[in-house]
Amino acid sequence: MKNDIQNIVILTGAGLSAESGIPTFRSKNGISYWESTDNAGVPFFHRVEDVCTPEALARNPALVHRFYDERRTTLATVSPNPAHEALAALDAAWPGELLIVTQNVDDLHERAGAKRLIHMHGELQSALCAACGKAVPWTQALPPGTVCMGCGQPRLRPDIVFFGEMPYQMDAIDEAVRHADLFVSIGTSGAVYPAAGFVQTARHVGARTLELNLDPSAGSIYFEDSRLGPASQLVPQLVRELLG
Ligand code: APR
Repeated sequence: MKNDIQNIVILTGAGLSAESGIPTFRSKNGISYWESTDNAGVPFFHRVEDVCTPEALARNPALVHRFYDERRTTLATVSPNPAHEALAALDAAWPGELLIVTQNVDDLHERAGAKRLIHMHGELQSALCAACGKAVPWTQALPPGTVCMGCGQPRLRPDIVFFGEMPYQMDAIDEAVRHADLFVSIGTSGAVYPAAGFVQTARHVGARTLELNLDPSAGSIYFEDSRLGPASQLVPQLVRELLG
């Protein structure tokens, strides 16, 4: 695995944090449907795709804010697992270029110690002002109408990239993928673009491509190599191979 590899890009998804106790979106027991209650306290199911959109935020900000408040609260109860720890160890030890691009909005990569990291879909522990665009660290509940300290407008929202919005730092990600010798995708279903398309760019520039996932994903056919199993086992094994 190690021969001729200098530049590595690692894409991570919800499967990486599953063993820490954060449910994935689309696998069994995932949160594709989110159960909440209506104003009368009656249980109600929402498709995640109908909660995580700019239209949903405009239509029912209380519901969307509550969805992310629940997820932010969960962070206090979870910890990085051996897959996050192995990637942080690789980041610390790898002498070449390395970039971890995560679709996850939890902070488990950084809690494990990863530094070369991009949160392409935003972060639960950040709030974004819809009026001035300033992002601020946020660890509490975020009620709709919270005032931005920067511009004074009551427009703070979860700093999450909703369906239909542009992911963060796409230029930096594209640059890294175009220079990669090895592209690894871990714990993602390959259902959401643009992340699902990175493997094709990587192949186009001649990188080796490897997928680590519990089940075959929608994108498995694009990878040279797929290893099936839990991230907590496959990732430390890959890192041992890379670090020799
Ligand atoms: N180890 C490895 N892979 C796992 C594990 C595990 N322990 N548990 C689940 N998986 C795999 C599943 O088989 C599935 O293919 O992780 C994948 C999770 O897929 P999704 O739930 O679709 O999550 P993800 O690909 O990260 O979603 C992408 O969609 O809803 C949006 O913005 C949200 O960032 C998210 C994006």
